Amino acid sequence: MTPKIDRQHVAQALRGAYDRVKNTTGGKNADYIPYLANVPSTLFGIAACLTDGTVVAVGDTEYRFGIESVSKVPTALLAMQQYGAQEVLDRIGADATGLPFNSIIAILLENDHPSTPLVNAGAISACSLIKPVGDRDGKWQSILRFVEALCGAQVGVIDELYRSESETNFNNRSIAWLLKNYNRIYDDPDLSLDLYTRQCSIGITAKELATLAATIAAGGRNPVTGEEVFRAELTPKITAMMATVGFYEHTGDWLFTTGLPAKTGVGGGIMGVVPGVMGVAAFAPPLDSAGNSVKAQRALADIAAQLGLNLFDAPRAAVREAQAAKA
Ligand code: DON
Repeated sequence: MTPKIDRQHVAQALRGAYDRVKNTTGGKNADYIPYLANVPSTLFGIAACLTDGTVVAVGDTEYRFGIESVSKVPTALLAMQQYGAQEVLDRIGADATGLPFNSIIAILLENDHPSTPLVNAGAISACSLIKPVGDRDGKWQSILRFVEALCGAQVGVIDELYRSESETNFNNRSIAWLLKNYNRIYDDPDLSLDLYTRQCSIGITAKELATLAATIAAGGRNPVTGEEVFRAELTPKITAMMATVGFYEHTGDWLFTTGLPAKTGVGGGIMGVVPGVMGVAAFAPPLDSAGNSVKAQRALADIAAQLGLNLFDAPRAAVREAQAAKA
């Protein structure tokens, strides 16, 4: 039987996962961004936020780490909020690349669009689309305010991380200009790349990330602050994107194992969304070969199994009821 999803069961599941996973070794901090190499690799935290606003947490859930690629989710959502889901599908796409997150080959293979806003190319393209708000640094303000509304907290860029990324992001610079070559970027490439680099450098805690995920799970209404952040019709769209490419070239294995739409970042964070139920996030810096946190993925897989969060699972009680009614 599927356990109940309430504070007590979720707290128990988080504690169990934490204890089972905490001694896991293996993986290595990202080192192509120098700042990330120096984050203490023993940090580990798990947080969940239910769609009624209940937050539970265990471990290092107040530590601010680089959101990195998890930031691709809010910007994709913001682009859909501003333009509609269909226009984002037409101008960027929603296909898995099956290739690493920073793949140049993926851009060459897709001859009519960057493929999905959840890999670097599509994310830089999504940044180029964002409409500004306010009167200064408008596009950045638009992204930052949206992230803050989703997680219900003030967040900001970790300056040292931003500098570290800006000084070393040669591959992303190539991507931005290659997109320009194919008319798949909708503003100045350098400016769009800078927005992307800044959003990746946002510092966030596991608790804030869980709340961000819960806002998606709750159809756009932040369950902690009560703010309506985006249109409910976008939850299935962004969740489908996460399910399709959230773990890059390991996405199929992840979805097969857990049935949980989730998005990873090389800062060590992973956020999972269970529509209608909860958001869950885990953080631990050492990564596997695809750039996904080793401990965070084990922890989320453990919690998904304990709480029966697999989206593809048949609702057995409902099936039994329907069959009993017919008999
Ligand atoms: O663009 C990059 O390479 C980094 N700022 C983000 C990459 C990332 O997080 C990939 N995810 N696992």
